[in-house]
Amino acid sequence: MISNKMEKALNNQIALEGYASFLYLSMASWCDVQGLDGCAQFMYRQSEEERGHMLRIFNYISEVDGHDLTPAIKQPPHQFKSIQDLFRQVYSHEQKVTKSIHELVALSLNEKDHTTYNFLQWYIEEQREEEALMRTILDKIKIIGDGPQSLYFIDKELEKINKAELAAEAKEEEA
Ligand code: FEO
Repeated sequence: MISNKMEKALNNQIALEGYASFLYLSMASWCDVQGLDGCAQFMYRQSEEERGHMLRIFNYISEVDGHDLTPAIKQPPHQFKSIQDLFRQVYSHEQKVTKSIHELVALSLNEKDHTTYNFLQWYIEEQREEEALMRTILDKIKIIGDGPQSLYFIDKELEKINKAELAAEAKEEEA
């Protein structure tokens, strides 16, 4: 059985992950319109991943006899100043999610809820990986530059990252 406080905090996290999924879907669509196919594919996949993060908490709350609440999702932005601006926003959102996960961990310790504490460890690792990936992308964009001709090369870099991620996923499925 989960405490009301913990249940409420996990439901807030569901909303945050759900918003990330919609924000990244909107970003994927913007990239598509700009002709940045590699970036679009990357953001579509990130959007799917965030939906997975949301559902993982849903399933958990239900497993511990709580009531998971389907969140209202506020409208994400549809326009971005540039691809650099878009990835800066992704990074910033990921930092927000990390902070929120850390607060959940602190709460689980406070509530002496070791089951939830244990469940949250997966998110700690996931956030470390996501923040590192976004920093790598921002570093590459910085090196390539932000002139109009850079877009082609930025998109090629994202295609490479997509391939590497797909290969890693296939390996995980094999294991
Ligand atoms: Fe689920 Fe990337 O935060």
